[in-house]
Amino acid sequence: MSTDDLARVREEFLAALQSAGSEPEAVEAVRVRFAGRRSGLLRQLEETLKSLPKEEKPAFGKALNELKRFVEERLAAAQEAAAKGAAAAETVDVTLPGRRPPAGSLHPVTLVRREVEEIFLRMGYSVADGPEVEDDWHNFEALNIPPDHPARDDQDTFYLPGRLLLRTHTSPVQIRTMEQQRPPIRVIIPGRVYRRDSDLRHSPMFHQVEGLVVDEGITFAHLKATLEAFLKVLFDSRLAVRLRPGFFPFTEPSAEVDITCIMCAGKGCPLCTGSGWIEILGAGMVDPRVFAACGVDPQRYTGFAFGCGLDRVALLKYSLPDLRLLFSGDERLLRQFEGVRR
Ligand code: DAH
Repeated sequence: MSTDDLARVREEFLAALQSAGSEPEAVEAVRVRFAGRRSGLLRQLEETLKSLPKEEKPAFGKALNELKRFVEERLAAAQEAAAKGAAAAETVDVTLPGRRPPAGSLHPVTLVRREVEEIFLRMGYSVADGPEVEDDWHNFEALNIPPDHPARDDQDTFYLPGRLLLRTHTSPVQIRTMEQQRPPIRVIIPGRVYRRDSDLRHSPMFHQVEGLVVDEGITFAHLKATLEAFLKVLFDSRLAVRLRPGFFPFTEPSAEVDITCIMCAGKGCPLCTGSGWIEILGAGMVDPRVFAACGVDPQRYTGFAFGCGLDRVALLKYSLPDLRLLFSGDERLLRQFEGVRR
């Protein structure tokens, strides 16, 4: 064994590395063959070194060390090239389906509001709106709610500086509409309303839709037929509608309107507390005092009005257990409405 043999090993190594190219597995095979810890060629040569006559050791040892360094350097370079090659070889499969951008969804209350608007637009109504920050006149006084009426209680109403308040219902827009336009009037008024109330079924901000019809010869029969038609389209054509006597300061007579429970079809269940009916809105014939407050002649005109909670409709339609879910900002709720359009 001589330094010439080392030169031969070096040639062999270079040839092997060359044919391995930048193929990671081939480079690894070359490493094992030459620099493998247990039985690589260099390891074997170290053994050879030990058995050489004393005078040959220095020259051979020096040449062997040089060869080892050379092999290490070249291997490192080849490994790096192989790693880069592997990364570059990772190709894009253009036949894979693309990733869809998240589409978002409409809020269930928006879906219900749009549906209600559509139903009434088809019946010839127009959609009106008004301010959420109201004054006492529109929210209370003109609606025949006198200063000592319990609805004005600090407990219910958010009062603002400057004798303003957050509207507690959409009814003030009835007043604004009648102040601005002469009969015949046929409007619905969806919007946000505010009350100091918060539990499983109440949120300090919620949504209502108000309806107002004013013309000559409008009767309670028009009210009943309109609400029946509306509720049947909104929920289910088979449901029954029931009117019970009620009281609102701005309507006379007034009615509470029930529908057959949509969970049990009237048989009685926890949702309707066994009664088979669900209260869905309030309504009545516009009180002549309200007409007088807006400058509408109560001798000539009659009208009906109604008010309905949109959030409650959404809970019923989509079987949601808790009103607060609607305003929690929990994306998991909204994701269930992806693709639902109105
Ligand atoms: N404004 C009433 C409320 O917030 C709802 C209502 C009842 C509106 C009867 C009306 C109506 O227009 O006629 O509870």
